[in-house]
Amino acid sequence: MWLAKYETRMDNLLDIQNLRTYFYLGEQVLKAVDNVSFSIHPKEIVALVGESGCGKSTAALSILRLISSPGKIVKGKINFNDDIDLLKLDVKQLRKIRGNNISMIFQEPLSCLNPTFTIGNQITEAIFTHKSTSKDQAYKDTIDILKTVGLQDQQRIFNTYPHQLSGGMQQRAMIAMALITKPQLLIADEPTTALDVTIQAQILNLLKTLQKKFNMSILLITHDLSIVAQVAQWVIVMYGGEIVEEADAKQVFKKPLHPYTEALLKSVPSFKKGKGKLEVIPGSVPNPAEFPTGCKFHPRCREADKICKKVKPGLFEVKKQHLVRCLKR
Ligand SMILES: Nc1ncnc2c1ncn2[C@@H]1O[C@H](COP(=O)(O)OP(=O)(O)OP(=O)(O)O)[C@@H](O)[C@H]1O
Ligand SMILES: [Mg+2]
Repeated sequence: MWLAKYETRMDNLLDIQNLRTYFYLGEQVLKAVDNVSFSIHPKEIVALVGESGCGKSTAALSILRLISSPGKIVKGKINFNDDIDLLKLDVKQLRKIRGNNISMIFQEPLSCLNPTFTIGNQITEAIFTHKSTSKDQAYKDTIDILKTVGLQDQQRIFNTYPHQLSGGMQQRAMIAMALITKPQLLIADEPTTALDVTIQAQILNLLKTLQKKFNMSILLITHDLSIVAQVAQWVIVMYGGEIVEEADAKQVFKKPLHPYTEALLKSVPSFKKGKGKLEVIPGSVPNPAEFPTGCKFHPRCREADKICKKVKPGLFEVKKQHLVRCLKR
């Protein structure tokens, strides 16, 4: 029988149901997140993947209600820890959760770190925002977390300004700041894209280690599928503001079922067998103000036929715990 995933995956830390986040640009309505439902288990790393513009960041920012005008969360439920609907909280209640139970790190550490305060100042400030503790204890906790994220010479780093650190060190400092409150969920939006390949691997390994150490869940957003294979247990593929496939990570890499996921995997160097040319997906992601009729992927899909132009596919469980939005599956 075909079942929606949220009926089959129980025991959720975060459960998003029918989320719609739109941007209102004059006459145009950009449906950046167009009826998205997914969940994250405790202690699980979930990867959200897809090409640029498919709505990954908008979905992530919606979780913490960080969408500002002209954007708006139009509909949906975001349940955290079973009973808290994040979309119904008032600002004060939400602040208690943001940066405390749920933290977020971004691609560009410098866009989050304040250039006018030292790293130590910023991390201790994050501690004081969420709990009452002595200055001495906050200092000790900050030194500890700097050590945990692999920064050497913690006393010096404590008194250093963000611009005095390398990109990799800045990213570690930002991870330290996000983890100081021991969040249950860390949202990492393209956390390694701005770094070189060796540092990328270090930061990913660090995230994996920290996930175990802190028993937290991670929502890892990336357009780099080679990253996903190394760290995630569950994979969600987005296209045109919708989920088109989701399943266990091993399953997705072994046998992707949506033609879009297949094409994405074929365009990643490490997944391409032999020495032939890498494949590219023809065309580009659709403008969320005017999605194609039928299946949103049909203009770029090599399997598409007449029916795909007309009928909009639903997201169905075509194999156990493997959901796909495609009329051909
Ligand atoms: N502040 C905004 N104002 C208007 N449109 C926006 C805004 N933020 C996002 N969008 C639009 O919403 C759609 C989804 O964007 P989003 O940033 O969520 O994509 P993404 O998957 O995170 O892409 P990337 O991989 O490039 O980060 C895009 O069409 C984008 O242009
Ligand atoms: Mg993004």
